[in-house]
Amino acid sequence: MKEWYDAIQNAQSVEKLEEIRVSVFGKKGVLALEFAKMKTATDEEKAQIAKDLNTHKSALTNELMQRKITLQTLELQEAMRASAIDVSLFSSKSQSGALHPVMETMDKIIEYFTAMNFDIKTGPMVENDFYNFEALNLPKYHPARDMQDTFYFKDEMLLRTHTSPVQIRTMMSTKPPIRMIAPGAVFRRDYDITHTPMFHQVEGLLVDEEGIVSFANLKFILENFLKYMFGDVEVRFRPSFFPFTEPSAEVDISCIFCKGCGCRVCSKTGWLEVLGCGIVDPNVFKAVGYKNVSGYAFGLGVERFAMLIHQIGDLRSLFEGDIKLLEQFQ
Ligand code: PHE
Repeated sequence: MKEWYDAIQNAQSVEKLEEIRVSVFGKKGVLALEFAKMKTATDEEKAQIAKDLNTHKSALTNELMQRKITLQTLELQEAMRASAIDVSLFSSKSQSGALHPVMETMDKIIEYFTAMNFDIKTGPMVENDFYNFEALNLPKYHPARDMQDTFYFKDEMLLRTHTSPVQIRTMMSTKPPIRMIAPGAVFRRDYDITHTPMFHQVEGLLVDEEGIVSFANLKFILENFLKYMFGDVEVRFRPSFFPFTEPSAEVDISCIFCKGCGCRVCSKTGWLEVLGCGIVDPNVFKAVGYKNVSGYAFGLGVERFAMLIHQIGDLRSLFEGDIKLLEQFQ
C-alpha cells in the first residue's frame, strides 16, 4: 500500500489526484481487490485484514483530501498570477495630457524674458479706470479710449483691456530700476476669427536712470526675442501710436508662411504684425511719481503668436475645448 501514499504525495495536479483516487477507491480499485481477497481467508485473518484495510482506507482518504487542498491552492495561485494585470507595462493606447498651445506659447515667451533677467509681475483682471487708462496717458474722453472695446462694471471698474495696468501698479509699488514682464488674460468686446473676448498678453517694461534706456536697446531685445520665437525672420519697426509711449512702433516679422513673397495670411504684404512698443511717455512717469528716469515698454498678444506658430486658422477654435483639435498639439 505504501506506493499509493507516495503516489498521492507526488501527484502534481488535481486531475492526477483524481486518477489515483479512482485507482484506489474505484469499483475495481486496489482496496476493492484487497477486500475481495478476504473471501479466501480464515475468520481470524479476515478480522485482521478488515482492520488493516479500514485503517488504510481512512488514512488514504485523509491524504487525498490534504493533497487536494494543497494542489487546489497552488493551482489557484498560478491562475491568479497568470491573469494578473501588469501595471508596469506601457500601453500604446495610453493617453497623456499636454499643454494648451496658448499656454505653451506663453511659457516660451516667459522663458526668453526670464533668461534676460526680467521679473514676472501680475495684477488684477478687474481693474479701475485709473490703472487701465488714466495713468497710461489716456485721460477721460480721450479719443484713443475708443480703440479699446471695454467691458465696464459700475463705479469706473472694468475688465482690463491690456496688461499695461501692471506697469503702473509695479512702478507705484517699487523704486526704479525695473525690468519686468506681465503675462496674463485681458478682455475686449471682440469676436471674430482672430479675436476672442478673452485673450492673453505679455507686457514688458524696463525703467532705468534718465538717458540710459534707448530705442536701440528696445530694438535689440525685441529682434532677438522674435528670432527666438519664430526662427530666422526679418524684423521691421513701423512708426505707430500708443498714448503711453512716445515714440511708438509696431513690429512686423517677415511672413513665416510665404517667406515675404505675399500670401493670404499676410494679406499679400509679406509682413505679419506681432508687437506694439515704444519709449515710455513722460506723462506715464509723472502719473506714478517717477523722476529722472527713462524706459521702454512693449506688449504682445499670445494667441496671435500661437496662431502663427501652429498655423491655426480660427482663434475661437482654441477656446472650444475640442479634444480632437487639442490632441494635435501634443
Ligand atoms: N497695451 C498695448 C495694447 O494692448 C500694447 C503695448 C504695450 C504697446 C506697451 C506699447 C507698449 O495694444
